[in-house]
Amino acid sequence: MSNSSSFCTQANALLRKNLTFQKRNVKTNIRLILLPLILCVLLVVLQHLIDSLLDTPDFKCGCACPNKRTTCNDSEKVCGVQYSNQNQLLTCPVPHPPEWPPLLQLPTVLCKENASCRFNMLFTADNHSFAQSVTDNMFPSAPTVDYADIMGSLSSNVLGSQSYPEDNNFLEPAFMSGLPIFYLQSQCPKNNSGFSFPYQMAGITSQQEIRCGQGINLWRNSSSDINNELYKGQTNEIASAFDFLNSNEDGFDIVVWYKSVFSRGIHSPSTTLLRIPRSVNLISNAYLQFLRGPGTKILFEFVKDMPKPETVFRIELASLLGGLFFTWVVLQLFPVILTSLVYEKQQKLRIMMKMHGLGDGPYWLISYGYFLALSVIYILCFVIFGSVLGLKFFTLNDYSIQFVFYFIYVNLQISTAFLLSSFFSNVKTATVTAYLVVFGTGLLACFLFQNFVEATSFPRGWIICMELYPGFSLYRGLYEFAQSAATISSNSGTGGMLWQDLNDSTNGMKEVLIIMLVEWIVVLFIAYYIDQVLSTGSGKSPLFFLKRFQKKPPSFEKLSIQRQGSKVLVQLEKEDVIQEREKVEQLLLEPTINHAIVCNDLKKFYPGRDGNPGKFAVGELFLAVPRGECFGMLGPNGAGKTSFISMMIGLTKPTSGAAYVEGLDIRTHMDGIYTSMGVCPQHDLLWESLTGREHLLFYGRLKNLKGSILTQAVEESLKNLNLFHGGVADKKAGKYSGGMKRRLSVAISLIGDPKVVYMDEPSTGLDPASRKCLWNVIKLAKQDRAIILTTHSMEEAEALCDRLGIFVDGSLQCVGNPKELKGRYGGTYVFTMTTSSDHEKDVENMIRRLTPNANRIYRLSGTQKFELPKKEVKIANVFQAVEVAKRNFTVFAWGLADTTLEDVFIKVAHEAEAFDTLS
Ligand SMILES: *[C@@H]1O[C@H](CO)[C@@H](O)[C@H](O)[C@H]1NC(C)=O
Ligand SMILES: *[C@@H]1O[C@H](CO)[C@@H](O)[C@H](O)[C@H]1NC(C)=O
Ligand SMILES: *[C@@H]1O[C@H](CO)[C@@H](O)[C@H](O)[C@H]1NC(C)=O
Repeated sequence: MSNSSSFCTQANALLRKNLTFQKRNVKTNIRLILLPLILCVLLVVLQHLIDSLLDTPDFKCGCACPNKRTTCNDSEKVCGVQYSNQNQLLTCPVPHPPEWPPLLQLPTVLCKENASCRFNMLFTADNHSFAQSVTDNMFPSAPTVDYADIMGSLSSNVLGSQSYPEDNNFLEPAFMSGLPIFYLQSQCPKNNSGFSFPYQMAGITSQQEIRCGQGINLWRNSSSDINNELYKGQTNEIASAFDFLNSNEDGFDIVVWYKSVFSRGIHSPSTTLLRIPRSVNLISNAYLQFLRGPGTKILFEFVKDMPKPETVFRIELASLLGGLFFTWVVLQLFPVILTSLVYEKQQKLRIMMKMHGLGDGPYWLISYGYFLALSVIYILCFVIFGSVLGLKFFTLNDYSIQFVFYFIYVNLQISTAFLLSSFFSNVKTATVTAYLVVFGTGLLACFLFQNFVEATSFPRGWIICMELYPGFSLYRGLYEFAQSAATISSNSGTGGMLWQDLNDSTNGMKEVLIIMLVEWIVVLFIAYYIDQVLSTGSGKSPLFFLKRFQKKPPSFEKLSIQRQGSKVLVQLEKEDVIQEREKVEQLLLEPTINHAIVCNDLKKFYPGRDGNPGKFAVGELFLAVPRGECFGMLGPNGAGKTSFISMMIGLTKPTSGAAYVEGLDIRTHMDGIYTSMGVCPQHDLLWESLTGREHLLFYGRLKNLKGSILTQAVEESLKNLNLFHGGVADKKAGKYSGGMKRRLSVAISLIGDPKVVYMDEPSTGLDPASRKCLWNVIKLAKQDRAIILTTHSMEEAEALCDRLGIFVDGSLQCVGNPKELKGRYGGTYVFTMTTSSDHEKDVENMIRRLTPNANRIYRLSGTQKFELPKKEVKIANVFQAVEVAKRNFTVFAWGLADTTLEDVFIKVAHEAEAFDTLS
């Protein structure tokens, strides 16, 4: 077809429209782009605040003046762990960590004054006597003290402390806390006052109090007894407990219990050291001594931390909050895309564009590409802001991984938006739902999903299942970026994720990328499929791609036969309808090109629902509209006019029959028809933020107009429809009055020289002047094209239409030009006279004298209307009769009128209804 527009033209038109649309929304766009900027700046500012808080002596390696002087220069100061508290020493360099005696963790029991403290150890075994003999060796009966090597001799004793360990052991808290250290014995001396001993350790010279504690081994019948007791609570505190299981002289198999203590809130048990090694050593030594005698020992000499370099105490905020913040930033686009898609659906703009020739291919390509470009720009801004502000989250991770990750994710997000847009029909619902999803996803991911990821015991399969939800896979990816930025990778030597890190089994990025990639393709496919089935209005069957293999269901044929009996009778009486039918049959035999629209036995049947019987909205419609004709469809509401137009513009499929537009079948070639068709729908379908001119430019481009021809066509169309003056053309359509919108809709339907135009009540809501101007445009437009117009205004029908069809109850009752119809159905004058009610009889007699075939159609308190057959009555006679009557009685008013189209309409409608009630 000559004016069918190519894929590129359509794509170009849509792209330009979208760009204009986006330009209009510049404020929204800036707001959108500002969000990541604001969040990044916020992170940087907070980070700065935290850094300056940490940049105080409290968080730096402790220093002091040498030789116990109180004041000195900064340069003279010496720094080290010995001058630091636990917070400060995290930053000190410790090349040679001090060696501390290994300690048992002792419970805080109340010790009586001067009496020895008692620390209980529980044990159980399969063989009581064996276990008893082993545990008897646990505690020595006297301390070993060697004043020459005091630290060395300490490790020969069973030492314990009630202080809690830290997360490092550069300074053993037992020596810093001021609490006594206990040496456990089976029996303490009577006078247990304890003593102090001097020590020099980690550069600290100090005294440490040391006291005797009584270690008591208690037998328990079973390990479950021990469990119960361990969990019982504060009273009867227990140092540790042992289960020998089935140990004997030949084998040693032991379970050691400890009470996990974490007094300091910020220390979770997973990061705090535990004093368990000494318990294991204690029981092993006891077993060894049971086998080999008291001389045998495995000496546990000391514990020491790993050496460490000087570090800076730093809290990386982006790593802590990055996951949540950045998830929100990236998800932010989802509502934007969804809303935009649902808007075009809610306003039926998608269908409107389709009806003016926009194919599904260009629509998908451009919409998708457009959202993709939007997303990519947005993400680029986000990454650039973050990098410029120096957030490690962005600068340390390999940019190519970031790009691949974000690119796959935004594609998945767009596909998901396309998919979900099929299920929303209201913009507000879609927006609210989308934002709820955005915030909900962020919070759920941060406070629930992250815990699962971090819990090593949580099954990996479940995590993968959860990552099937795109929000969680996004969060996982961002979380991995944050983690990599905060920790030192073995591959790079610095922080940040490299491609080879994906090989690492603890790095979840690889699976996330695979999941998202697969999901993207699947979701995109499903979205396209659902779109084809549900929402385009082309009403494809769910198995449209199998259509070729299907046969037509024959069910409705039977239905139409059932009704035929009665309908044929009616049609026999209507010559004009039969003539139209013959014309159509003739045309189908010898196709000519000058008939733009040919409908052959077109039917639309709506099956019954909820117990109501089914209904033929359109039944047996034969119609041929030549080019250059404006065909008016009249009919009461619900007569089937809109159903007919819906079929013709491809919104619904006919139940049976066929219609040809410019020789193309509406059942199979709707896409070809769209390019030569214009529609002015009953309700204006416009973009509120585009101007009239932009609407016309867009639809003009869709119809393959270009360059100066396009501009000229748009100008002309604006001028013709009175949209040119006062800058109306460049105002947003949302601000138009109802009449202006109506005129714009008509202009849209006519732009690009369509061969067939459907106008559904084009002049509703127009003032008389605009209507007149609209009529002129339509009169001019019908020169070279077929127009089908529905209207309720008889005046309009008479002024515009070359032929009229009156539609009642789904079928044409009559077809013809207005004059013919009036002649055929209204071969009468209508005579009206008002007198007092006493003279009603006189008036009737007067009329009967004029013609015996007069027919009274109305009578009410003195006013009567008669139909007088034109053939039998001369107007002059009527006037004469009235003059005579006036002399005989008082006539208040009288009138004689030719039949109007309105009379014809009412008459035809009544006749059809009367017939229907009869049949
Ligand atoms: C329990 O242990 C003792 C001493 O080790 C041993 O003599 C005895 O045979 C053991 N009893 C059982 C039932 O194994
Ligand atoms: C342990 O078992 C013995 C005998 O089997 C019993 O007399 C004793 O009451 C039990 N002790 C506990 C604490 O259950
Ligand atoms: C990935 O890991 C496997 C074993 O875990 C190893 O054999 C392979 O060489 C690694 N590949 C790369 C590129 O590091």
